[in-house]
Amino acid sequence: MKKRSFLGASALALAAALGSTAVLAQDVFKVGLIVPMTGQQATTGKQIEAAVKLYIAQNGDTVAGKKIQLIVKDDTSIPDVTKRLAQELVVQDKVDVLAGMGITPSAFATAPIATQSKTPLVVMAAATSSITLSSPFIVRTSMTLPQTSSPLADWAAKNGMKKVVTLVSDYGPGIDAEKFFTARLTAAGGTVVESMRAPMRNPDFAPFLQKVRDLKPDALFVFVPSGAGAAVMKQFQERGMDKAGIKLIGTGDLTDDDQLNGMGDVALGVVTSMQYSAYHPSAKNKSFVAAFKKASGFRPNFFAVGGYDGMHVIYEGLKATKGQGGEALVNAMKNLKWESPRGPVSLDPETRDIVQNIYLSKVERKDGELYNVEFDVIKDVKDPGKAK
Ligand code: PHB
Repeated sequence: MKKRSFLGASALALAAALGSTAVLAQDVFKVGLIVPMTGQQATTGKQIEAAVKLYIAQNGDTVAGKKIQLIVKDDTSIPDVTKRLAQELVVQDKVDVLAGMGITPSAFATAPIATQSKTPLVVMAAATSSITLSSPFIVRTSMTLPQTSSPLADWAAKNGMKKVVTLVSDYGPGIDAEKFFTARLTAAGGTVVESMRAPMRNPDFAPFLQKVRDLKPDALFVFVPSGAGAAVMKQFQERGMDKAGIKLIGTGDLTDDDQLNGMGDVALGVVTSMQYSAYHPSAKNKSFVAAFKKASGFRPNFFAVGGYDGMHVIYEGLKATKGQGGEALVNAMKNLKWESPRGPVSLDPETRDIVQNIYLSKVERKDGELYNVEFDVIKDVKDPGKAK
């Protein structure tokens, strides 16, 4: 008892000696943000970092008596690098929370580190359904592909697209998208006549698109990860697919707000399903978009909102635990419900995945810019990938 109070007193004296800005180690709460800043996924890192910094700027850097310290690392979207950075952040920097995760393999590589060190991992992007099953310390604020792709299949079947070809990136989220889109389209009386998978990195879509032309489906369903949509759109146009009468549909990853405005007229009329559009007409979103653009100079996409809401769950979780991290923080975070720029959301305490509205949108030109304009909503969608 004596020893402890002596230590406490000397630590206080030290803090005082260092000046009023000095903060005791136990009063600092470190967030280790790992995102890709280079390569095909660079837009994800750029978007999430800007959103996280905006959240901190708007809400202050002190929560429940803790000073938030953000450490940002670029994993170049190579999972071995993600893993090494996560280890360093936990062991050397002693972070209280790991966050980010631009792609699925990065999240799977980090999950065991979160579990072993009992460090909460806030997944702000990676979207394969099973990620949250890989560690009880994961909470996710982005989406899952079963969640975003299922409503689009229902819409396609209802709108005369009975014969569909699917084209997905050949890894976790693409396989989820293919599986759930196909199951729902088939249940609604449609048929997937061909399921194609392209490499995740440096894909050449030309041979796939040629095959689609030959098959002449009513529609082509596409999932590619954020950052790859513009390349698909360019090749779709070069092959004259739009003129061949083949409708292009996909999850909103395809018409990503980060790239959409540069895609040109070929994107007009493309129908997608997603949890977020920068054009979402709520007051909350309008002020978010304005503040984001002012701070960063570009338009926020769905992963920016994943990052912004990821910080929200950290802040609100810390308020609930009065500054405690670890398992207590996960338990607080997984029971949260709030209004996001995307609309009303909550975390499902059973799966630690986000429950959210999925919007059907069509690309239109508004005020001289291309936007995903919402025309329908399916409310409070839970991840169908974990339905029992
Ligand atoms: C993923 O790797 O899980 C991922 C990446 C980008 C997306 C969606 C999913 O747009």
